[in-house]
This record gives sequence, structure tokens and C-alpha cells, in this order.
Amino acid sequence: MHWKKRLFYIAAGTTTVCVAFLTKSYMGGPKYEGEKKLDGKTVIVTGANTGIGYYTVKEMARCKAKVVMACRDMKKCEEARRNIVIHTRNKYIYCRRCDLASQESIRKFAERFQREFDQLHILINNAGIMRCPKSYTKEGIEMQLGVNHIGHFLLTNLLLDVLKKSAPSRIVNLSSAAHQAGEINMKDLNSDIVYDPGRAYSQSKLAIVLFTKELADRLKGTGVSVYAVHPGVVDTEIIQHMPSLTNIFTKIFLKPFAWPFIKSPDQGAQTVLYTALEPSIADSSGSYIDSDFSIAEVAESGKNKDLAKWLWKVSESWTKLNIT
Ligand SMILES: NC(=O)c1ccc[n+]([C@@H]2O[C@H](COP(=O)([O-])OP(=O)(O)OC[C@H]3O[C@@H](n4cnc5c(N)ncnc54)[C@H](OP(=O)(O)O)[C@@H]3O)[C@@H](O)[C@H]2O)c1
Repeated sequence: MHWKKRLFYIAAGTTTVCVAFLTKSYMGGPKYEGEKKLDGKTVIVTGANTGIGYYTVKEMARCKAKVVMACRDMKKCEEARRNIVIHTRNKYIYCRRCDLASQESIRKFAERFQREFDQLHILINNAGIMRCPKSYTKEGIEMQLGVNHIGHFLLTNLLLDVLKKSAPSRIVNLSSAAHQAGEINMKDLNSDIVYDPGRAYSQSKLAIVLFTKELADRLKGTGVSVYAVHPGVVDTEIIQHMPSLTNIFTKIFLKPFAWPFIKSPDQGAQTVLYTALEPSIADSSGSYIDSDFSIAEVAESGKNKDLAKWLWKVSESWTKLNIT
């Protein structure tokens, strides 16, 4: 090949790679650089062995927090914990079993946590499952609603006393922009009659927004604040049940083009860190924080207080909790 042609290809290739990295950095959104003093603080992160949860724990560990990784798979959890300890030199990182698809497992986790730790300053309800085939939790609750909302509803309520005792404290609920397309199906909340994987996911993420707002009202004056978060579009295992996004063709031919526009899990964790730590949002309990760190509007149905109260009552009954 003529040297001029070769030079042209090298220059074009280098420019493409640079533009791709610059775009990735821009699209990755802001990095949280604010208040991060976490020594003496205790944190729980659910679904912490991979994705956004893993990088949230890693950063909190770097900032000297004591972190409990609440996971369903102890092997994956231990492997992730070991990596975090090696990279951060923080040995106060713990693996504890918490399968959000089993209320017995959630209750055991909460009991053990309260036996082992006196305080809880930050609870990050991160674990999630998206567009899975129709399946149910141990109690017969549709899996996406059961894990994403009902499991976290139970866990949060079981930990409220310790959160209040440790105030000021925060709860961060991982919702999604997908809640905008969500509808709470009051006639078939459990999707027993019709199951649509996409609708069930959006419904569960809208349920999280409604739960966040109702809980914020109930927690007024306690020093415990609660927020819902959209972390952005993040490259994680959440798409594992979507064959159109996980097949070889997409991975080889489409993903490289999409790569600059999708956040890495590390970038995805930044909105969670901002929401858990930023002092300026302390008085904005009940808010929905978008991936650019702004307080954003939620869908109209996410503001419906009667719907939030109805969902709370159903969630209470499905978890056999009796809260006034
Ligand atoms: N990625 C995105 O673009 C995006 C956008 C908006 C919102 N979100 C939300 O962000 C959160 C984190 O998602 P991610 O993207 O980091 O996904 P991910 O990589 O798939 O991580 C999800 C985590 O949840 C855990 N999990 C699933 N079912 C569980 C159960 N029954 N009990 C306990 N843990 C369970 C998974 O454990 P295993 O490893 O054992 O499966 C994993 O640790 C989710 O709530 C998701 O809906 C993500």
C-alpha cells in the first residue's frame, strides 16, 4: 500500500477511536466529586456483586465505609468482595445472603444485620431484574414486581428502626426512566391474567417511585430521607433476558457503535453515589434524581398519592407487615 494511503488510514482510525472515547466520556455523565467522608458509616447495597451495585460498593469502600453486600449468590458475592478489598484495602466489607425473591431470606438478612451492626446510615436498594420470562417469587409474586419493589419494600421496612436510630440517614431506590411508561394495573397487579415482560418491568419501576414518595411522607421529621434514582443507560447484566441485545450478531456488529453512548457500570454508579451522599439534596426527600444529578419530574401516575397509598396497603399485605 502506498505510504500516503497507509497514513490516511492510520489518521482516520486514530481520529475515530479518539472521538469514540471523548463521546463515551461526555455521554457517561457527571462524576460525583462532592462530599465522600464515610469513615464510621455503615452502608447496605443490595445486588452488589455486579453492575452498578458493585461499583457503588467499590467507591464507598474506597471512602472507608463499612459495607454489607446483600446478594443472593454467595460465590459471586465473595469473589466481588475479595476484588473490592484488594483494590481499596478496606477490610470492612461483608457478604450476607439476601435473596429478594424470598421473604424468608429477606427477614433472616434483616435480623442478622441488626444483631451484627448497631447502625445503618445508607441503604441502597439496587438489586433488579428486567424483562425475565414469567416466573414468581417464593411467595407467588410476579418476579419483577416481587424483587424490584416488594422485596425492597419489606427490607426497607424491617430496617427502618435502625435507619431512624442512625439519622441523618438515607435510602436510595433504583428506579428507571422506564417508570415513565409504567402503569399500576390495579386489576391484575400480579400479572396473573396477562404477562408482558416490558410492562411488568415498567410497572415495578413506577411502583418504586410511588413507594419512595409515600415513604418520604411517612418519614417526615425522622431524619431519614429517601430518593428514587435513574442511573442512565448502563452496560450491565440487566439485559440478560433480552436475546435481541445479547446475541453474537449484536455483540460483534452493533455494540461497538452503541458503546460510546452507553455508560459503563462505574459511570452508572455516579448518580447513586450523588444521591446517597450529596448534602445539598438533604431537604429533597421523596425526589427522583436523574442521571445528570438533577431533581426530575416523575410520570403523572408517579405523583398520584391515592395510588401510592393503595400500593402501600397491597405491599403491606403481600409482605405480612402491619404498619400503622
Ligand atoms: N443498567 C441500566 O441501564 C439501568 C437503567 C435503569 C435502571 N437500572 C436499575 O439499576 C439497578 C442495578 O442494575 P444493573 O444494571 O447494575 O444490573 P445487573 O448488572 O444485572 O445487577 C443486578 C443485581 O441484582 C441482583 N439480583 C437480581 N435478582 C436478585 C434477587 N432475587 N435477590 C438479590 N439480588 C438479585 C443480581 O444478582 P445476580 O448476579 O445473582 O443475578 C445483580 O447483583 C436495577 O434495579 C436496575 O433496574 C439499570
